[in-house]
Amino acid sequence: VEVEWQGHMIDRGGFDHYMLKEIHDQPIAVAKTIENRCDIEKGQINLRKMTLFNTKLKEINRIQIIACGTSYYAGCLSRYFIEKFTGIPVDVELASESRYRTPTVNVHTLSIAVSQSGETIDTLQAIKFAKANKAQTVAMVNVPGTSIGHECDDECMLYAGPEVGVASTKAFSAQLSALILLGLTIAQEQEKLPKEKIAEYINELVKVPSFIEKVLTLSSKIKEIAKKYCDVNSILFIGRGYQWPIALEGALKLKELSYIHAEGYAAGELKHGPIALIDENMTVVCLAPKDQYYEKTISNIEEIRARGGKILSVGTEGDTELKNISNDFIGIPECSEIVLPFLTTVPMHLFAYWIAVHKGTDVDQPRNLAKSVTVE
Ligand code: G6P
Repeated sequence: VEVEWQGHMIDRGGFDHYMLKEIHDQPIAVAKTIENRCDIEKGQINLRKMTLFNTKLKEINRIQIIACGTSYYAGCLSRYFIEKFTGIPVDVELASESRYRTPTVNVHTLSIAVSQSGETIDTLQAIKFAKANKAQTVAMVNVPGTSIGHECDDECMLYAGPEVGVASTKAFSAQLSALILLGLTIAQEQEKLPKEKIAEYINELVKVPSFIEKVLTLSSKIKEIAKKYCDVNSILFIGRGYQWPIALEGALKLKELSYIHAEGYAAGELKHGPIALIDENMTVVCLAPKDQYYEKTISNIEEIRARGGKILSVGTEGDTELKNISNDFIGIPECSEIVLPFLTTVPMHLFAYWIAVHKGTDVDQPRNLAKSVTVE
């Protein structure tokens, strides 16, 4: 058995809610997902531990990621990395929509079903559809012994451990790590990246858990900031490049937990519509760490500011330029680009969590939602 769960793992561990505990479990979830599968000394992915026994990785020329909810956003995020590593086009599809497209997959397509529970009916149906159309299928699930796992040719397990809070947190980080690793595995097998480059990426990935630990220390600061935004009606989240799916995830978490209307937008799309919403009553959460998109995102933030919008930014520690144009600023440590998305995600989860706590909503069991959706 690759992953075993025991009773003591399902415990709030002294935290007020499962969700807060699970946010704090992220370093270990990522560490287990990565370290088990890499030979850190040699800088190689351990193929046996990736458990891709039946998938012909060398023959893949297209990747399709199928998922719902938070798992879908993990897919959207990983796409930037997988395409960069492999040069292979990656489509990320909502499972509930995937079936309505004309099938274009074939034996050279790798279809990955990403699902925390492994039981989401839409994802299960969509992966069956891909398989029926000859795609090679991999289940990326967190729970052992699931229907999706059973359906696929191979199973690449996550090591997040039991996730109880309805809103998914640690599974997201584990999914992102496993998808990045899968991208590197394909690059390794197809010789798309030099060995040294793969070793370098592995070296960076193993640092992710300790970086997340640092961001978790910001929890009480985020709790204070969240107090100011509890009574707003609507919040926009913006990000560029791989920060865009994180903006989508931030908005999803906020609406799920606090019932505040929230929307995630690609920063560059602001001027094509949402900018009409900006006035002194609108709050915008801006993801603007010092990465390749920084300058452009800053100019989007200036546009929001010029229209009186309130800015809560997540940026790189010590970035006074960003801090000075923001109403509130959350600084994350400087790090490499592969580490960055893990770090900007944590404040999104903590912000939604603390707003929900301040508002007194049911954090672990938000109204109308289910942990695992087994009806269409
Ligand atoms: C439900 C849950 C979400 C989850 C989504 C997909 O909507 O409330 O937290 O992201 O299902 O679930 P899965 O188990 O397939 O990842």
